[in-house]
Formats: sequence, C-alpha cells, structure tokens
Amino acid sequence: MVAEAPPASPQTTGLRRTVRTVTTAPLESIEDLALQRTSSGDAEVDRVLGGGWVPGAALLLAGEPGIGKSTLLLQLARHAVDAGRTVLYVAGEESLAQIKLRAERLGLAGGLVATRDVDARALADHLVRTSPDLVVVDSIQTLRADDEGIPGSLTQVRDGTALLTRAAKESDATLMLIGHVTKQGTIAGPKVVEHMVDATFSLESAAGYRVLRALKNRFGPAGEVGVFEMGDAGMAAVANPSAAFLAERPAGVPGSVVVAALEGQRPLLLEVQALASKSPYASPKRVVQGLDGRRVDVVLAVLERRMDLPLAGLDVFVNVAGGLRLTDPGADLAVALAVWSAVTNRPLPEDAAVVGEVGLAGEIRGVGQLARRVAEAQRVGFATVIGPRHPDLPGGGCRDLSEAVARVHAPAPAASR
Ligand code: TYD
Ligand code: MG
Repeated sequence: MVAEAPPASPQTTGLRRTVRTVTTAPLESIEDLALQRTSSGDAEVDRVLGGGWVPGAALLLAGEPGIGKSTLLLQLARHAVDAGRTVLYVAGEESLAQIKLRAERLGLAGGLVATRDVDARALADHLVRTSPDLVVVDSIQTLRADDEGIPGSLTQVRDGTALLTRAAKESDATLMLIGHVTKQGTIAGPKVVEHMVDATFSLESAAGYRVLRALKNRFGPAGEVGVFEMGDAGMAAVANPSAAFLAERPAGVPGSVVVAALEGQRPLLLEVQALASKSPYASPKRVVQGLDGRRVDVVLAVLERRMDLPLAGLDVFVNVAGGLRLTDPGADLAVALAVWSAVTNRPLPEDAAVVGEVGLAGEIRGVGQLARRVAEAQRVGFATVIGPRHPDLPGGGCRDLSEAVARVHAPAPAASR
C-alpha cells in the first residue's frame, strides 16, 4: 500500500530510518455514511443491513448450501439493476446459463453483468477500473488468489477476500461476499474472513422460513433479523413473522410458553418448549436448543433452589420451537415457566405471553423495549403479558418467580368461587 501513500516527505528518526508522513483529516470534513446509503430495494433486507447498501463496504453472507444465498443476492442484484445501478455477479459456482435462467425466473429483464473469472487479482483490478455499484461474489470458496493454491483453501479464501475488500474500498463498490458454512456452523475459511469485512450476515432456516440475521454490522445494529419465505418467485418477506412462528403451536400443552422476545430492534413472539422426563442416568441430561445453555442452567438452578422444583433425577429438554435461535436475555422467564409447566404438568393460559430476565434470587428483572414487546404480543392476540414490574406492563408485573407462577396457575375466577 506504500505505492498509494501521498508523496513521502522523508524525515529522519533517531534511528536514522526514513519514514512517511501520516495523513490526517478533521472528522467534520468527512462525508456522513448515512447520507451515502442506497436502498437495496427490499425493505426487509434494508432493515437487516441497517438502512441499505453502503459504498465501499465489504459484506459477508454466510449460510449452508441450498439455503437460498444465491437466490437472495440475485434478487437484490435485480433490484439494483432496476434502480439503474451497475452490478457485477461473479459466478464461481454455477454456469452463466444457470445464473441467467434463475435470474430470469426472479424477474431480471437484463442489465446484469456476470463473469466466471474467479482470479481475485484480476477481479480486484477490474473493480478499480470499472467501479461497479454492487459486486456479488458467489462464493468466496471459489476465489483464487494465486496460481499455486487450491481453491477453497484457507489462504486462498483469505487472500482473495483481502484483495477484493481493498478493491471495493478503492472503487466505492459495495461488495457482497457469499460464504458457505460447514456442518458445524462455522464460516469456512472461517473467522479470518469475518474480521476482514464490515458486516457479517447469516441466512438460516427456521420453522420452514428463512431468517436473515446481522451477526456483526459496522453500519447498523447487530442482531437485526429479517424473515423470508422461499417461493417460486424467490424470497418474499413474511409480513407477520410472530404469527408465522406460532402457527404450529400446540394448544393447552404443558411446557409450551410464548415469549415476547426482541431480536435486534424487532419484537417477535416465539414459542419456548420444555420437556422433563425421569432420567435413567446418574447425572440427568440437560439438552438446550436455540437458547444460551448457560442461561438455561442458571434458570434451572433458580427453580430448584428458590421454588423447590424437584429437578434432580429429571432429564430436561428446552428449545425454541421451529429451530430459531434466541439471544434475548428476556427469554429467561419463559424458560422458567416452561420448565415449571412441564414438571408440574399444568399448561399456561393460552392468551398469555411471557417476558423477563430471571435473577439468582428468583427476582424478575426488567428488559429492553418492554412497551414494544407488549404491543406486539397484543397485536398477535395475547391479552395477558406476564413480566417484570413496570409501568409499561398493563395489569401489573410480577416481582419474582413465585408471583409469576401464581399468576399463570391461578384458578380461573369462576372456578375459585
Ligand atoms: P440457492 O439460492 O441456490 O441456495 P445457496 O446459494 O444458499 O446454496 O437456493 C437453493 C434452493 O432454493 C434450491 O433448492 C431451489 C430453491 N429455489 C426456490 O425455491 N425458488 C426460487 O425462486 C429459486 C431461485 C430457488
Ligand atoms: Mg448458491
């Protein structure tokens, strides 16, 4: 990069080495990033991106083979072309005829430029010379950074990505890199690439839908999710994800609890399920899916110690229905009530949604964006929200787990007479 530096004014340090001068700039003279964003043409994608495409940004979309990465990016390429922007599609995986066929199915009438050249050096040079608005690389595993290396090897993926990332910055192109993840869920060619890009997104399958998630984002909030359905015309945003994710919820079954969760900035109603069964093992099993296993362990310990719930000798299974992943600490109370409900074999009232963090003393603690969670719960049809004591919670909240359990297991008013 020395070649690009401003003409060096040689200075001599005490060690008698010649150094370049450092270029500085007052921050207020720098153009605002927000002003440079361009809509992707898809509102759901824009929200996950943090507002739209940013010129010069390098983004990574990771996901298992067949999940829909190429489909989604071809759709976004089509939107960009429709908006009069120049797009280059680097097709390392499929033939141009295959890409053309698929792009036509997705409504692309023309205007998309593609190449099968995966030589990262040549591509980088091409970017700098032609300055396209958007470049899609499908996939980084097919990139070649030098002639000797094996495509897909760690050094090829890393060096190829580095070359293209630099070229994108230089040419102000938005670079969207597709990366396949291995079975273990790690990004192949892995963490090395994640650190080179400005934002990393994952595309996952959950309850038959596709979930686009911002894992890291220099230009917007991380954790933001978009929900899509894969159909004949590609990926379409799901208008009401809460209702979609709850569609298969069994009615009146013990161990099923609806949580008023927050993923990124989006309130989302999801089902947490628990099952407890007599363990044949000396040390019972704890199997957790879609939630932080350590948080669940803490909740189980609190249930045992503060609520005298007998868990010793029981295998406990807790998951988020549909295979979704939930990072929200506000799911604690739902986990606690699901396990309570499973162990006592008593279902929760069907119109109740639950939210709250659980502390070690069994207290229920506040969560972010309570009002928005409550609003979403009510919109989807949950009249009662059980959560922390807070003015934003209609009907009053609960101080601790025993109050919450009393609330969900109180006999119906008519029956109590
Ligand atoms: P694809 O985008 O090729 O996945 P990836 O690039 O992540 O490997 O999409 C995979 C599946 O999507 C494939 O089985 C076909 C299906 N598909 C649809 O259902 N509808 C469509 O409009 C398109 C283009 C693909
Ligand atoms: Mg693909």
